[in-house]
Amino acid sequence: MFELQDSIAIIKLNRPPVNSLGAALRQQIASDLEQAQAHKGVRAVVLIGSDKAFSAGADVSEFGTPLQRQEPILPTLLARIQDSSKPVVAAISGVALGGGLELAMACHGRVALESAKLGLPEITLGLIPGASGTQALPRLAGLSVAYTLMQSGVPQSARQLAESGLLDQVVATDLLQAAQAHATELANSNTPLPRVRERQLDAAAVQAFVNEQRSKLSPRQKLQPAYTALLDALLAASGDWASGLARERALFLKLQSGLPAQALRYQFFAERQASKLPASLQAEPRPVHTVAVIGAGTMGAGIAICALDAGLSVLLLEQDDAALQRGQQRVNDHYQSRVTAGKMKAAVAAAAQARLTPTTDWAQLKRADLVIEAVFEDIGVKQAVFQQIDTHARAGAVLATNTSYLDVDAIAGVTQRPQDVLGLHFFSPANVMKLLEVVCGAKTSADVLATGMALGKTLKKLPVLSGNAFGFIGNRIYNAYRQQCEFMLEDGAWPEDVDNALQGFGFAMGPFAVADLSGLDIAWRMRKAQAATRDPRERYVAILDHLCEAGRLGRKTDAGYYTYKDGRQVKTTDALVRQTIEQASAQRGITRRSLVPEEIQRRALLAMVNEAALLLSEGIASRASDIDVVLVQGYGFPRWQGGPVFWARQQDRTVLEHDLQSLAAEAGYGYVRADLSTLLKVDES
Ligand code: COA
Ligand code: NAD
Repeated sequence: MFELQDSIAIIKLNRPPVNSLGAALRQQIASDLEQAQAHKGVRAVVLIGSDKAFSAGADVSEFGTPLQRQEPILPTLLARIQDSSKPVVAAISGVALGGGLELAMACHGRVALESAKLGLPEITLGLIPGASGTQALPRLAGLSVAYTLMQSGVPQSARQLAESGLLDQVVATDLLQAAQAHATELANSNTPLPRVRERQLDAAAVQAFVNEQRSKLSPRQKLQPAYTALLDALLAASGDWASGLARERALFLKLQSGLPAQALRYQFFAERQASKLPASLQAEPRPVHTVAVIGAGTMGAGIAICALDAGLSVLLLEQDDAALQRGQQRVNDHYQSRVTAGKMKAAVAAAAQARLTPTTDWAQLKRADLVIEAVFEDIGVKQAVFQQIDTHARAGAVLATNTSYLDVDAIAGVTQRPQDVLGLHFFSPANVMKLLEVVCGAKTSADVLATGMALGKTLKKLPVLSGNAFGFIGNRIYNAYRQQCEFMLEDGAWPEDVDNALQGFGFAMGPFAVADLSGLDIAWRMRKAQAATRDPRERYVAILDHLCEAGRLGRKTDAGYYTYKDGRQVKTTDALVRQTIEQASAQRGITRRSLVPEEIQRRALLAMVNEAALLLSEGIASRASDIDVVLVQGYGFPRWQGGPVFWARQQDRTVLEHDLQSLAAEAGYGYVRADLSTLLKVDES
């Protein structure tokens, strides 16, 4: 029931946490609206949400269920609002996203707090707005603003949108009063109520805009049907409202039942679940105000930046003054470039930099609540550093290593407090990449683990729990994938065949282009370290070693798998690489054959699936969906393909088992063929 204030009916949206427009809330709004219409004392209506959310849009968990189809469905509700003879004004605070913004656009007026965030993020779920968003937003805010919001999916603040035409008024405070005043004004006006459906766009301008944008779609966007559908829907906005709506709805429903949208919905919930520890591991995190970062190289500087950005105090410790200066320069350069690019206010950057204390004095460590080590990837160096940390850090401080592959227990073991040690595996660039693997050692205590997860959230990362295993979740799967891609080189493919096929699947880059970018010497060094323990009966592809021996270390030497001219990759591999690969095939007694893209994609994915199943059965990953989050967030796996687990679950089980068997046979000695039962089970907590 609404509240009546000075002839204005206040309809409060009250469905915590984010007022998603599930069946019950839609029903409540419709019935309150109906009562307000019928009530003689009501002259106008204000719709208002909570401080956190006007509404975060359609209830994603209802998608594909009967609840989504329960009347009033969103389009019906929005049509009733537009039809209302009494003015309806949206009072927007917090977020107005997707259906939430569509709801606001169906109203006759919109007033927003300047901090409110408005957007149509459907594209991030593989969809387009399905309840008039594609038709209403360009009519209100113009083609360019509308397309930017819909195509990026990134919300903008009411402050940014103040001049766009979307909002009638943007206020700093007193939202409800401003909305009531606007509603009264509309009720007093003699002119017809402003209804978005009555606006007309210039058809020729819409057509020209859509044609231009279509030609700008990237190859990755073309692989995702929502991008083309969005332009199709926008084109329909050149005509009348009713046919535009019909076109939009048809496109929306088709996308909604398709695989990319299912995969993206799955990722939406998987990401939120990943950051929650399983019930058995939950504990109260330790408070963290000051973080010490040891090693101010690529990773250390990036980690320091994200801690500073999160408002923490940061101690940056290096082994000598020269290295410290270089590290501090990295941090300063970052803030300088943010300010120059207009992405950060100078005062905000200065405040962040003021929270940084660079030092070479280990005694300073006692100030830290949490210490993150990011020194060279060498067990001896790391153990020596942890002994120092153990000497200087205060009792109760959390001690973390950013190692990529090394054994967290072997590092914790040199301290007197292994229960306080965990892995915090950031990805490069650490201030950009959202993924954070939180690695639990054998003795890590529950509150230390909880502190790692909580720190991840403070740093606006996506923390995912991992057990302690070589490469944790991500690098271990990536290694299996890369190894399979190397097998395919020996079998007959060229690096560009593999890279193109995997880009065709949607990977941001193929594995050989990635290897060149990271530098082949990193893998080379690791391979040399493992050489002594490698079983000679295992299939080992030495192509990378030979390239490194020839001085081809990747982009930094202008040659690796590919050659580079003026920093740009030459598309096809050169004679030396081909010769190296052909020799490798010959040595293994393989007659080279060509591999079609489908085979390349399938083998690469099967290798990931096998490793994922092993990680699950070993308890390294606690949920199958966590693996998909890691691959998407850290390794360029196309989000709209869901991840290797999601992919495996779409395959025919018998064919999958058969193909995995062939994969194992091709790999030969030492390859462990996983049991897929747990991985394929969809129901998990
Ligand atoms: N439908 C269903 N559930 C939703 C939802 C939606 N549209 N938006 C958020 N939720 C749920 C989350 O799953 C989470 O549930 P949980 O606590 O059980 O895990 C809870 O609401 C809080 O969301 P969370 O993302 O953890 O909070 P936040 O404060 O970080 O972010 C939002 C809030 C609204 C900005 C963010 O949730 C969001 O962007 N939601 C999606 C909006 C969207 O895409 N709408 C268009 C739908 S077509
Ligand atoms: P880097 O070589 O850029 O930086 C290492 C820094 O540690 C150097 O500045 C060095 O002076 C400093 N250092 C070495 N010994 C020290 C000591 N005893 N005391 C204090 N400082 C010391 O290396 P990086 O790429 O930043 O990698 C650091 C760690 O992060 C490694 O464990 C690496 O595996 C991991 N990691 C790297 C990446 C990446 O892509 N670079 C990604 C994830 C994790």
